[in-house]
Amino acid sequence: MKISIMTLFPSMFEGFINTSIISRAKANNIVEIECIDIREFALDRFKHVDDTPYGGGAGMILKCQPVIDCLNSIRTENSHVILMAPVGKIFKQKMAHEFKKYDHLIIICGHYEGIDARVYDYVDELVSIGDYVLTGGELAAMVVADATIRLLKGSIDENSALDESFENGLLEYPQYTKPSVYDGKKVPEVLLSGHHKNIEQYRLKMSLKTTLLNRPDLLEKITLDDRSQKLLVEIEEELKNDCK
Ligand code: ADE
Repeated sequence: MKISIMTLFPSMFEGFINTSIISRAKANNIVEIECIDIREFALDRFKHVDDTPYGGGAGMILKCQPVIDCLNSIRTENSHVILMAPVGKIFKQKMAHEFKKYDHLIIICGHYEGIDARVYDYVDELVSIGDYVLTGGELAAMVVADATIRLLKGSIDENSALDESFENGLLEYPQYTKPSVYDGKKVPEVLLSGHHKNIEQYRLKMSLKTTLLNRPDLLEKITLDDRSQKLLVEIEEELKNDCK
């Protein structure tokens, strides 16, 4: 897979591209990442890429021409083009699974106060990483690229990707490593027992409990099997008793 990132600040991506899992995926030819400087496509000698908004208002707006010329210089029939913008659809794990299927993903980072809305006609989708406004699309592009790359075959241990938060509609259960006692806090006994069935049951219960406490909205979106429903009733009883 190739990921092309169109940005006014290519240097922001240096740490991201050259560190840890992403740099390993790059070294192993799992992903190719390139950053293209939109400013290179400005036509005037001062390399202006932005201008004041029609209709008035604060700030500067990224112009169509440098963005679309830049896009046309890298786009092929196989490219899927996304524009990072707070007005886009919210990025979810499911979207990362869709993005990993493309041979070529182009991510455009908006900047300044906004981007000329006519750019929307040249992209496949607008994507937001959450209900807050960043100074630009660069951090958002890194979030999308990171979540997508780690799902590519060979990037990380496939079993760890299966078990984690959001993959089955639930948040992940808590994890522990050595030592078994730290500052008087013990790792749950069942995890030391070696009893796989009990461990699996405990993890499912903790997954349900974490989701109920932190993201009850997720529980409304999934159909729980009988075993999970029973565990959920048990958890709710336990929580009630804890309050007494
Ligand atoms: N640019 C600024 N804020 C953003 C957000 N929340 N998501 C994506 N791109 C952005």
